[in-house]
Amino acid sequence: MMDSRPIGIFDSGLGGLTALKELRRLLPQENLIYFGDTGRVPYGARSPQTLRRFAMENIRFLQNYDVKMIIAACGTISSIMTDEMAGGMGIPFTGVVKAAALAACRVTRSGCIGVIGTSATIRSGAYLRIIHETLPHAKVTACACPLFVPLVENGYIEENNPVTELVARDYLSVFSHQKPDTLILGCTHYPLIAPLIGRIMGDGTTLIDPGRETARLVKKYLSSHGLEADGKEGQTRYFVSADTEDFDVIAARFLGHPLERPVEHVDVDDLCR
Ligand code: DGL
Repeated sequence: MMDSRPIGIFDSGLGGLTALKELRRLLPQENLIYFGDTGRVPYGARSPQTLRRFAMENIRFLQNYDVKMIIAACGTISSIMTDEMAGGMGIPFTGVVKAAALAACRVTRSGCIGVIGTSATIRSGAYLRIIHETLPHAKVTACACPLFVPLVENGYIEENNPVTELVARDYLSVFSHQKPDTLILGCTHYPLIAPLIGRIMGDGTTLIDPGRETARLVKKYLSSHGLEADGKEGQTRYFVSADTEDFDVIAARFLGHPLERPVEHVDVDDLCR
């Protein structure tokens, strides 16, 4: 059995491209619909109620395209989604928290794990819960890094960007007393500045990219459920709810090639209807 319907991926902005990039690499035949809610980014300081509403609106938007699966490629949304919400959708759904937390548990040798993410994600304790279910004695240090998302959305992503470096050194100093051997980049925006974070943390720390880990899991899921697409190279459509040009430029830089087709615009007011 084969299924060429697209996979829907959403995030508050550019972060979900970290999952999309890996999906394109692992499953080049899949059709993808990407939605970046740039009209409402950042999500990270919002309440769980607001985030649940945004999640359902974004999911409804993707369902207009007859998607076969939905990925919340956003740590913040993933950490507040309930099982009921995911189950009530009627199509396969995954967030990114579980795949990343389990990957960190596999990788760590010292049991010392760091988690960075948005304020809402860190407050939810979602990564911590899954890590402790798997490794009860793990020593986890978690830290919110609220300035990272705006920096990434504004293109401050080069490895030697002095502004991002200053901010990152300040946030990451929380790990200087007890250096984790594994650091979860718990917000999907953070892998866009992974080279800079990696340089500050040093060689002894392995970085975990939630979008990439989730894409691997999705590949397994599709093949074990007979849902993989057949045949030739898949197409990707991109939608955003703010300016399309800003997204286009930074997305192309991150993906390493111009986008296959022009970014399309969705009105935030239409999402809420
Ligand atoms: N990429 C989102 C995440 O993984 C960013 C949330 C935000 O917009 O603050 O948490």
